[in-house]
Amino acid sequence: MGKSMSRQFNPRDLITENLATAPAVFHHLQTALADPNTTFEDYAEIIQADTSLAARLLKIANSPFFGFESKVQSITHAMSVIGLEQIIDLALASLVMDKFQGIPKELVLVDAFWRHSIATGICARLIARHLEKHNAELAYLMGLLHDLGSLILYRQIPVQSRLIISEAEADGRHLFDLEREILGFNHSEMGALLLMEWGLPPVFYETIAHIHQPSRAGENREIATIIHLADCAAYFMGLGTSGEPGQPEVEPGSLNAIGLSNEDFAGIQDKTLGQYSYTVEMYLI
Ligand SMILES: [Fe+2]
Repeated sequence: MGKSMSRQFNPRDLITENLATAPAVFHHLQTALADPNTTFEDYAEIIQADTSLAARLLKIANSPFFGFESKVQSITHAMSVIGLEQIIDLALASLVMDKFQGIPKELVLVDAFWRHSIATGICARLIARHLEKHNAELAYLMGLLHDLGSLILYRQIPVQSRLIISEAEADGRHLFDLEREILGFNHSEMGALLLMEWGLPPVFYETIAHIHQPSRAGENREIATIIHLADCAAYFMGLGTSGEPGQPEVEPGSLNAIGLSNEDFAGIQDKTLGQYSYTVEMYLI
C-alpha cells in the first residue's frame, strides 16, 4: 500500500487561476535584484508602475512610525529615508501577500505567517552575506517565499490541513512528513510547483522543494541549507509561525555543510532580531 493509495489530490489542481501568475511588478523586482547593475532609479521606476503598491509604500513613509516633518511624496524620497533594502522587502512581501487572502484563521494567522516568512528571509540574507558566496537578495526572496505552499494547502484544502495540523500536534511529527503521508506531497513541493508556475528560475523551485532536508537538494544544497537554517532560526526565536505546531530541528550536518560555526549562527540570529523588528513594524502599518 504505497503512498499513492492515500493521494487524494493532484497538487496542480490546487493552484487556481488567480494564484497561477505572480504580479508583474514582482517579476520585475526579482529580475532587478538578480542584476548587480540595477540602480536606485530602476527600482523606483519598477515600483511606481504599480500605483497601489507605490501608494502603500508612501503611506508607510508618511506614518508616525517615522515621524518625518515634511511629507514624503515620491518613491525615490521614500527609498532614501526608509532605505532601499527595506522598501524592496516591503514591496515584495506586500505583493505576495495580496495574492493570498481568505486563509481560515484557525489554521494560521496571516500576520504570524508573514512574520515567519520575513524573519526567514532576513536571516537567510544575513547568512548568505556572511558566507559571501551566494546572492544575498536571492536568499531573502527564497526565505520570504519558502512556505507559500502551506498557504495554498490552508486555503484550498482547509479540512485536510486542519487534520494534518492536529495530528502533528498529537504525535509531535512534522507537517512535511504528515502531509506527504496523507496527501502524497508536502507544502514544500506544493510551493515549488507554484514558483515553477510563476516562471521563476529553476533554482527557486529546486531549492524550495528540499528546504526541510537540504542534504537532498543536490547542487542546490548550500542555498537550501541557508534557507533551512533561517527557517529553523525563525522558529527558535519565536518570530511568527507558518503553522508547524512543534519546533523544527536543524538537519544534522547543516552548519558544517556551509562552513558556518555555532557562534556565527548565534550572532546572525541576534542581527536578524534587530532587522526583523524594524521591517515588521513598518510592514504592519
Ligand atoms: Fe518555514
